[in-house]
Amino acid sequence: MRKDFLPFARPCFSQAEIEAAAEVIRSGHLTTGPKVTEFEERFCEYLGEGFHAAALNSCTAGLFLGLLSQGIGPHDEVVVPTWTFVATAHVVLWTGARPVLCDVEESSLNIDVRALEKSIGKKTKAIIPVHFAGYPCAMNEICRIAKKHKLAVIEDAAHACGTAYKGKKIGGFGDLTAFSFYATKNLACGEGGMVVSRNRKTIEKIRKLSYFGINKRAFDRYTQKGSWYYEIEELGYKYNMDSIHAAIGLVQLAKLEEMNLRRREIAGMYRRGLDKRIRFTEDSQENFHNYHLFLIRIDKEIIPRDEFVGKLKERNIGCSVHFIPLHRHPFYKKISKKKFPVADKAYGEAVSIPLFPGMSDQDVEYVIDNVNQVLKGGG
Ligand SMILES: Cc1ncc(COP(=O)(O)O)c(C=O)c1O
Repeated sequence: MRKDFLPFARPCFSQAEIEAAAEVIRSGHLTTGPKVTEFEERFCEYLGEGFHAAALNSCTAGLFLGLLSQGIGPHDEVVVPTWTFVATAHVVLWTGARPVLCDVEESSLNIDVRALEKSIGKKTKAIIPVHFAGYPCAMNEICRIAKKHKLAVIEDAAHACGTAYKGKKIGGFGDLTAFSFYATKNLACGEGGMVVSRNRKTIEKIRKLSYFGINKRAFDRYTQKGSWYYEIEELGYKYNMDSIHAAIGLVQLAKLEEMNLRRREIAGMYRRGLDKRIRFTEDSQENFHNYHLFLIRIDKEIIPRDEFVGKLKERNIGCSVHFIPLHRHPFYKKISKKKFPVADKAYGEAVSIPLFPGMSDQDVEYVIDNVNQVLKGGG
């Protein structure tokens, strides 16, 4: 048995990230500034042509300000999948609107398009599709439904840096898209997020809301060109990204493709080597799955999920569960009384096993051997 613990995720950092952060510290300009602008510009270039971006301190902030930018507020409803992290639904409540939970597809655990259409009512104003684990939602169908019902689409791309849908990177299908750079994400800054849109005015609005509603870029007032004077034009928040995180993000962005390809390589080893009774979530030729997470499903009759997680822990392998569906949390039980059979079944079976670019082939083989042994009752 290996001596050290293999976590389910670990950021892929090198000396370059450390140097980039140190350079900012040495420069004396720590808060929002030219490094953040550079990160926004590089991120837009990475996605393709015609994008605008605002770097923020989280994806959650991006989703929240994204909803506000689309005029979502009290008396409105927003459809969100139940299979997601709580951020996706809490942001709806923060605006005063009501999240309407929706079941997911069996194959991908992304929002089920038929269930989505059934969830739309007179008060519905927006949809938040979540590209779960880094596999894209059915964006053509979702955008068609949104157009028909005049709904905003705010994509939760917390898992989807580099994910592509039918050959195009996630970022420009809906009205806007929020990415996460949280510590365990495939582009990691510690904390951080980026909201992108093809609409310049949307991003300008979000940028202003992200810094108290001030009428110009915050850092201007610290430069020789800037002035101390500013005006508050509306009720804004404090969600701006600082230069240290942006500098780390720039290094991570430059190696994102390489990191995603290694993720896919590991996923391929898992798909080939794991016990044939294990089921995987969908992948396909036409989409680019970045494998931010690698989720496996095991029938309860073979081994109960919690027992499986415990046995892997004894073997120094870390696992996680993505996600506890929202409708199973005490707080959301009060909000939604609907049934979610697909999410409930998946919840009893789902485990995320280690996948990060720094895993060696030996690490991957160790996981495969141990998962297979546990399934054969050798635990
Ligand atoms: C699906 C999903 N949405 C949103 C978030 C929130 O991201 P952040 O921590 O950057 O606010 C997460 C974070 O784990 C997530 O998994």
